[in-house]
Amino acid sequence: MGPLQIKDILQTSPESQSVTLKGWVRTKRESKNAIFIALNDGSTIHNIQAVAEPGQFSDELLGQVTTGSCLKIEGQLIESLGSGQAVEVKISDIQVYGTADPDVYPLQPKKHSLEFLREIAHLRPRTNTFSAILRIRHALAFAVHKYYNDNGFFYLHTPVITASDAEGAGEMFRVTTLDLNKLPRTEEGAINFKEDFFGREANLTVSGQLEGELGAMALSKIYTFGPTFRAENSNTTRHLAEFWMIEPEMAFYELEDNMDLAEDFVKNVITYALDNCKDDLNFLQNRLAEEEKNKPQNERQIPLLEKLSFVVDNPFERLTYTEAIDILLKSKPHKEKKFQYPVGWGIDLSSEHERYLVEKHFKKPVILTNYPKEIKSFYMKLDDDGKTVRAMDVLFPGIGEIIGGSQREEDYEKLLGRVHEVGIDPQNLWWYLETRKFGTAPHSGFGLGFERLVLFVTGMSNIRDVIPFPRYPKSAEF
Ligand code: 4AD
Ligand code: MG
Repeated sequence: MGPLQIKDILQTSPESQSVTLKGWVRTKRESKNAIFIALNDGSTIHNIQAVAEPGQFSDELLGQVTTGSCLKIEGQLIESLGSGQAVEVKISDIQVYGTADPDVYPLQPKKHSLEFLREIAHLRPRTNTFSAILRIRHALAFAVHKYYNDNGFFYLHTPVITASDAEGAGEMFRVTTLDLNKLPRTEEGAINFKEDFFGREANLTVSGQLEGELGAMALSKIYTFGPTFRAENSNTTRHLAEFWMIEPEMAFYELEDNMDLAEDFVKNVITYALDNCKDDLNFLQNRLAEEEKNKPQNERQIPLLEKLSFVVDNPFERLTYTEAIDILLKSKPHKEKKFQYPVGWGIDLSSEHERYLVEKHFKKPVILTNYPKEIKSFYMKLDDDGKTVRAMDVLFPGIGEIIGGSQREEDYEKLLGRVHEVGIDPQNLWWYLETRKFGTAPHSGFGLGFERLVLFVTGMSNIRDVIPFPRYPKSAEF
């Protein structure tokens, strides 16, 4: 099964046994008595130190051993003579797989800005920061599947290409094979999509929910975990044009059950990261502390691990949208006209309002429920007052909305009424509406933005830094 990984070699007790290392050089340091090579293969944040004697290898070979070059090293695993590591490797042979000319290789052993690293996204996984993020991202994805599997959910693969707009927000990327320079026209002069690949207009999905509901109406509890696409022109640190979403959908769950699941689920996956990503989280915590040194004391965040434990250990605050508006109306920033956007019943909360509630007022994650129907999607179950819907948004410190969900309208007539009200052609959703005709059931679900979760757990500040190859306006390199 391939060579031993550096992660495992570092845990092995040294008995001068032969080992083979394969990885990329992080640093090479030469002293009078020895040459030290720090090698990393991405299996762990820690490098392994390999040591050669002066004169043991030709200058020509050693000249090829530079930061970024890829090596195979053979040697003996011994107790480390230096401090800082338990074991090291006494080198007997070096084979260079690939050189990295220091005059042009952009990743040198010094601090690079995150903006610069975004421009070299093909190489940034080789940095400590990004390899730590990618390992944590993997652990969180694994924890998501484990959580749902352990709790009786089935992973449902919903389509990436769809003909419907699940969120009704119209922020979709078109999928077509038509020749844009020679568009087929109808007699009326409109584009004739009948001649397109699917014989109709098609888009990349904004959510797997509608198909997820079809699954829940048969398997009871399903979840999706796939890429979703939004063409909203939001150039923010919280939005991507391509992001991954986890969407559980459950028959026989009401709004309260939905909230319980959402809270238990995020706490569970964060706990998994705390238990399984200690080294990487410690590294990121120290990195953040280093950055915060320049900030005044009162603006510094609490240490990353403390923040994560706090979220896991404390119940989320639950309140209605109407109660939240009352709090905002009585708040200092509102009275002192410090909010950029106005507050009043009916507004779509902006991130400054959400962050006031979470970071200033409650100082913990918050679940807001029962929003006005006008600012939420057509599929949400209407409350008895006819004004609000059984929606729930989970808001996190430093992030804002991390989860959006609701109990779904299961009544055929009421749902059809909402479809007409918001101007959707029911013909396009006939299959979705039929679930309410045939054996309908109360059901609920939500969507967790995976990158927003990774952002929270890693303590990074820009969502473009927690996905390997980010997609955002004017950027689809790599
Ligand atoms: O609130 P949203 O739009 O809800 C839905 O799509 C529902 N269909 C979910 C459901 O009930 N099954 O999106 C859900 C979450 C948000 O809370 C946010 O975390 C994330 O998806 N999200 C984004 N993440 C990154 N970039 C974007 N442009 C995002 N838009 C939404
Ligand atoms: Mg939302």
